[in-house]
Amino acid sequence: MGYIGRREAAPIIVEGLKKLEYRGYDSFGVATISGGIELDKHQGRISNSSRSAAHLKGKIGIGHTRWATHGVPSDTNAHPHMDCSNRIAVVHNGIIENYAELKRQLIARGHIFRSETDTEVVAHLIEEAYEVEKDLLAAVQKIVPKLTGSYALLVIAIGEDRIIAARYASPLVLGVGDGEFFAASDMMPILDHTDRAMYLEDGDIASISEVGVEIFHEGKPVKRPVELIDWSQEDTKKGGFPHYMLKEIYEQPQAFYNSVRAITGETLPAPIRNPGSVTVIACGSSYNAGLIFKYLLEDSCAIPLRLDFASEFKYFPPPIQGLVIGISQSGETADTISALKQAKEHNCTTLAITNVLGSSISRSTDFTLFMRAGPEISVAATKSFIAQLAVLMQIINFIRDGEFEEVLRNGHRAIEEVLLMDLSEAVELCINARSIYYVGRGPFYPVSLEGALKMKEISYIHAEGYAAGELKHGPFALLSKETPVIAICMPGETYAVMISNIKEINARGAPVIALGVEGDLELAEVVDIFIPLPETHPFLQVLTTLVVLQLLAYHTAVALNRDVDKPRNLAKSVTVE
Ligand code: F6R
Repeated sequence: MGYIGRREAAPIIVEGLKKLEYRGYDSFGVATISGGIELDKHQGRISNSSRSAAHLKGKIGIGHTRWATHGVPSDTNAHPHMDCSNRIAVVHNGIIENYAELKRQLIARGHIFRSETDTEVVAHLIEEAYEVEKDLLAAVQKIVPKLTGSYALLVIAIGEDRIIAARYASPLVLGVGDGEFFAASDMMPILDHTDRAMYLEDGDIASISEVGVEIFHEGKPVKRPVELIDWSQEDTKKGGFPHYMLKEIYEQPQAFYNSVRAITGETLPAPIRNPGSVTVIACGSSYNAGLIFKYLLEDSCAIPLRLDFASEFKYFPPPIQGLVIGISQSGETADTISALKQAKEHNCTTLAITNVLGSSISRSTDFTLFMRAGPEISVAATKSFIAQLAVLMQIINFIRDGEFEEVLRNGHRAIEEVLLMDLSEAVELCINARSIYYVGRGPFYPVSLEGALKMKEISYIHAEGYAAGELKHGPFALLSKETPVIAICMPGETYAVMISNIKEINARGAPVIALGVEGDLELAEVVDIFIPLPETHPFLQVLTTLVVLQLLAYHTAVALNRDVDKPRNLAKSVTVE
């Protein structure tokens, strides 16, 4: 968040950051200009901190509340970041993907880095450009083409009565007040002061002074309309979505894209590239991600994978050696952490896959891979699940020397294609169900498990996932017209047997909702409701079917008036055994 105007900037920014905390909350900081740059930054939540940074003086300021992606949460890694001479301060939302290379070059040219963040390279690059240009706008314009990745940047410098803002693939909105301007990742912190906003577009760079805003795109001045925003605070927090869960489902293309790109030759530890065998331990949705990984790894790489519930592994550790991977979006699940400790005691190499930098899990393993889903507020895991798959699929891609590179780079598009599907007919069937069964084969079996888990946890309808061939070994006794069966039936080796399974279900009177590829008339003919999906690579079919099942659970829960984001009896992070 940034402020420029007649009022003291720091108190406005501090209040604003409290409203932005849902986007990240492991550390915070503010910088203002008051002759020199005043800076105050701390690890922890701004809303809980006794040290609020509101005391800083000056009428120009920038602030940030962080969700760590590069460098653990700490005072030093908190934003704003400064250049070597402490004349320039920068806050950044997004990921500078080429920061390692830029950092190496900057260090070689004599720059001293204080933090482990990707953001700090921006401060040093601007420092160099500013020495030549002597103008902050020109300096930012000069360095931005060197950055790859995503950024919403706010920059201030001593002697400059303005804030420079730049945006690419990360949101940035400017609030237009009376003789004052605001900049923030969303309207939340701005709405207290004004309802007039300008949305920057990708590639825009803005110079914001007390008298007005100038916006440039590819060096040329452009105008962006001032819009009236009539959202409530609550609407804004959820980006206009009625629930965090839906917002997070819609954030999945970005979560997948960022997480794929986060796993590179440099970030992938050597023991993962060539594992003799792999054991995965996890709980809940993370276990389901592990089971999808098992199917894909064994099929693509012929590497055997053993999967255990962390809560079982912990008490009954199997006689294993080699690589043990713990998957946990929160990084705080007690069962997974203690199972990994067990594995370490058995001399296994341990790797954590998590969404939270600095989380407990990453402190107890030999290696950690971070996904890039960003904070997930809704209790039901959605975008963190997709991000786990992105990381796991990238591991397979590296083991296969880049065979799936193209597929994974386009995964976000496949997800985008299914976000707007109309599922109303299927929802109608589900809201009246006594139980719902989900069936699939191969990787679509764990997709079924995950679909059923989402359904039961947020709609409170009993739901079970089964390997399609298992239904006849008992659950058939439960089938009736009140127990719809959701069948995932994609082209491939098991297509014909899935069609037979569906016919068996038909014969027992249960309605069938099928997910298949568009144009599959054979399938459409034998089911009650057909949900057509684009035909694509099998990896991406896992993603698209998952997203449809998340949406089906979501819309069913909404139709039943459930508390979607905070389902009863559940917690986001399960820190007890
Ligand atoms: C379901 C869900 C839980 C978690 C499980 C493990 O939507 O979120 O099943 O997957 O509690 O949590 P993490 O991944 O944080 O270890």
